Amino acid sequence: MPTLTSLSPSIRRPTSSGSTVPRSPAERGRRWEDPTSPISVTPQQSAPSPEGRGIASNPRLTSAFEAGLSALFMSLLALVATGHVDTARAQSAPAPVSEERVQAAISSSWPKAPTDWLARLQQDETMKACSQHHNTPPAEVGREIRNRERASIKHPADGNYIGDWTKGERIAQSGYGLRFSDYPPAQVNGGNCYACHQLDPKEVSYGTIGPSLAGYGKVRKFGAPFAKAVYEKIYNAHEQQACSLMPRFGSNGILSEAQIKDLVALLMSPDSPVNK
Ligand code: HEC
Repeated sequence: MPTLTSLSPSIRRPTSSGSTVPRSPAERGRRWEDPTSPISVTPQQSAPSPEGRGIASNPRLTSAFEAGLSALFMSLLALVATGHVDTARAQSAPAPVSEERVQAAISSSWPKAPTDWLARLQQDETMKACSQHHNTPPAEVGREIRNRERASIKHPADGNYIGDWTKGERIAQSGYGLRFSDYPPAQVNGGNCYACHQLDPKEVSYGTIGPSLAGYGKVRKFGAPFAKAVYEKIYNAHEQQACSLMPRFGSNGILSEAQIKDLVALLMSPDSPVNK
């Protein structure tokens, strides 16, 4: 049976004083976040507290927790068996999200951010609508979002969508930019594509929030209309998928037109390792 720690490695263990485990001074200096904020974005340093007062290290609490878990599991099984899951879900359907609450939660997470950075914390129309509808907007709202986002896409003046895949691979690998440790910016932003996608199948480290893009151009027979569609997708993912989780790289000025073309080449060029 897994313990609480193995289930939730990011849970912060309380110290004897009731505060959370302090971070190193160097790290604290680099972050703007308020260490007392309940919403923390810093990867947790799971240093055990010397007092060993965490729930997981207390055998009595651990077994009570495990008993609770198996009881919960058994009741879930019973619910599935009797077909009551839908009713249970309907009863616990999330209440509509209030815009003020969302904004307050976001703002309170960055109490020390420089003022010229704070504009990023204001949700735009699209983010508001997606929050409001839990990322599944009604058809009409979805259409409005896609039309608005489409209008912000600027196509290359020369009509050429394909750049240099070798540069594209470096951009896809680079996670530089927009993090609070990248302020003020010291180099050009990357796309951090591997954080969410598989691209070059030889790269072993990648995230799976987005679909695998391995063989992307090959399965599309390297067709020119797809190069344009990929450019648009990277420029503004919400144009095709109203509440996409993918950043709007072009519209939000994260990547330049030339960088986006290099990424299109990475996906669509026959020479690219993505298509090998
Ligand atoms: C935060 C996660 C995230 C990041 C970072 C991200 N994407 Fe995505 N991407 C997604 C998700 C989720 C989807 C699927 C939903 C959608 O289509 O919007 C997607 C879809 C796509 C698609 C369409 C796939 C298809 O089936 O046609 C392409 C192309 C793409 N991403 C390319 C990129 C590139 C290139 C980068 C880097 C510049 C990138 N993505 C960065 C999350 C991400």
